[in-house]
Amino acid sequence: MAEGNWSDMVSSASQVRHSETRGSIDGILAVTKHDMGRVNDLILSMAGSRVDLIPEIANHLISSGGKRLRPMLTIASALAHGYEAGDGHVKLAACVEFMHTATLLHDDVVDESDLRRGKSTARTIWGNQASVLVGDYLLGQAFKMMVEVGSMTALGILSDASAVIAEGEVWQLAAAKKMTTSEADYLAVVDAKTAALFSAAAEVGPVIAGAGEAEREAMRRYGRSLGIAFQLVDDVLDYGGVAADLGKNTGDDFREGKITLPVILAYAKGDEAEKAFWRAAMEEGRNDDDALAEATKLLHRHGALAATTDRARAFGAEAYGAAETLAPSPVREALLDVVEFCIDRIR
Ligand code: IPE
Ligand code: IPE
Ligand code: MG
Ligand code: MG
Repeated sequence: MAEGNWSDMVSSASQVRHSETRGSIDGILAVTKHDMGRVNDLILSMAGSRVDLIPEIANHLISSGGKRLRPMLTIASALAHGYEAGDGHVKLAACVEFMHTATLLHDDVVDESDLRRGKSTARTIWGNQASVLVGDYLLGQAFKMMVEVGSMTALGILSDASAVIAEGEVWQLAAAKKMTTSEADYLAVVDAKTAALFSAAAEVGPVIAGAGEAEREAMRRYGRSLGIAFQLVDDVLDYGGVAADLGKNTGDDFREGKITLPVILAYAKGDEAEKAFWRAAMEEGRNDDDALAEATKLLHRHGALAATTDRARAFGAEAYGAAETLAPSPVREALLDVVEFCIDRIR
């Protein structure tokens, strides 16, 4: 796919939903456009294989778009620290998107999801086995690219993230489907399954640019807080969003019995009958459409979606503060706009 296609598509999609400039990803699209063209070419070439099924499945997901948010963070954070030594930032950005793509292939199997990026998930077309194995292949390709870049520090950051993401997904599977899940447990899962990759994506920029520990720490904090905010908003949208905008079905979290922050907050405020309703729904699978409607009503009654959005805003403010430490430049402005975009997706 030519780079113009996806960036135009992402840009026009964001304009449909965000008429004003604040809270848009147009800034980061603009400052990373040249390098992201190279990232996309690399992604397509690294998704190739002599085994036809691999590019068939990988390209199904890759060519469906996706915001490419994480690789843009890598490019932007490298540029913000003056990186101009070569194509290391392009390779690391492609790695980051491959890690994300692999995670999505695996996650849709785990979550039994049917829709991703507006299309049927790979698992519904080719089955769980092929989806898991192609995800593994993409992860392997990502590690090959990381080694080529030759930064042991970047390799350490991304391989750490890879393990932490998998740990977070297993943690969620094993522990977080019980109504006893606390807000702290939930945030720890989110930190692992989502924020770890955002954090690594942003931190490897200053690393390959040769920046110091303070700069790395700021980008790590930016990515991590942004990632947590992003997932909290995603969890709100699973109850309040529109499937056509999201490219994935809403209500999936409820049907899966996945305890997210809106549910934890509503449960804490519920009376005994409501608590019994939540336990039956989330733990015993009484989660038909009527139950989902009831759940949504309770979430609104207790202000749980608004309270989750407020938490997301607080993490967003943290990310904003971290990016404000950068020297003034269009890249800094773009990274600041991304924070607002992630929160504003809620409207
Ligand atoms: C989806 O991430 C997974 C979550 C962390 C919620 P994105 O919403 O960034 O997915 P794409 O890449 O744009 O499809
Ligand atoms: C998002 O997982 C994070 C990862 C993919 C590891 P979710 O299961 O919460 O996200 P969606 O709703 O499938 O995108
Ligand atoms: Mg999922
Ligand atoms: Mg999941």
